[in-house]
Amino acid sequence: MKALITGASSGIGYEMAKELIRLGYDIYCVSRKEGDLVNLSEKEKSHIEFHSYDLTKESECFRLLDETKDLDLDIYINNSGFGDIGYITSTDINKEIDMIKLNDIALVILTKEYLKRFIKKDKGRVLVTASAAAFGCAPYMSCYYATKSFCYSLVHGYYRELKNMKSHVTISVLCPGPVKTRFEEKANTKFNVKPLSQEYVGKYAIKKMMKGKLEVVPGTSIKLLHAISHVVPKKLITKVLNKSASIIK
Ligand SMILES: NC(=O)c1ccc[n+]([C@@H]2O[C@H](COP(=O)([O-])OP(=O)(O)OC[C@H]3O[C@@H](n4cnc5c(N)ncnc54)[C@H](OP(=O)(O)O)[C@@H]3O)[C@@H](O)[C@H]2O)c1
Repeated sequence: MKALITGASSGIGYEMAKELIRLGYDIYCVSRKEGDLVNLSEKEKSHIEFHSYDLTKESECFRLLDETKDLDLDIYINNSGFGDIGYITSTDINKEIDMIKLNDIALVILTKEYLKRFIKKDKGRVLVTASAAAFGCAPYMSCYYATKSFCYSLVHGYYRELKNMKSHVTISVLCPGPVKTRFEEKANTKFNVKPLSQEYVGKYAIKKMMKGKLEVVPGTSIKLLHAISHVVPKKLITKVLNKSASIIK
């Protein structure tokens, strides 16, 4: 059994990789650096292959697809991503463009092709890491929230299409709230609510993906936010999320 995970060098992706190794999968990890994967025991490493790609580059996404065309994958997890916080007047447009490229463009290029491969053999599971950010909008992180709404919508559309064609392929979208990873540091932010642990979220995500759940929402408070987001106007959700994170610099 084989699984490919983007962004498994740290955080949630790293925990998902560990959980899949525990379940007996060989793991193909894709990110720019090896990161925490070097900390795995020799036994765990025997199930892991690391491949360096910068997925903000379209050419790298297509290279990954080409180089994995003969790999008979059972699972594809699209998890690489990052955020940024700041005022409209001070956030870096180039960082935001890279964010859109990684969080959305790479997502479409990779997920669509792996789905096509899975549909052909009528077998396989896909998990996309979006965020609870997909449930609303937030000031100071508008671009990040918008990228995650894109992930969420895309998965919902693909899910329905798979159902319409009576495919056995499943697709799930992971929507965590704050999780203690390197995300905060990279986004220049500090959460104002207690984050969940990456271990909990990684294991939870794999468990729900294996059950073919469409939406995977870890944690009680985020489940509540998810529920109210269906009935409360977006303007109000944005107000609630106004103070969920602080700008560090
Ligand atoms: N932490 C949270 O509060 C939270 C909440 C909701 C959703 N999420 C989402 O969860 C996912 C994982 O984030 P995390 O919290 O686990 O943070 P993290 O520890 O920073 O992990 C991010 C992963 O993405 C990879 N990555 C970043 N830029 C990349 C690039 N250009 N090409 C390929 N891979 C790249 C990183 O590896 P390299 O740097 O080595 O490339 C790393 O493995 C992201 O999509 C994030 O938006 C996080």
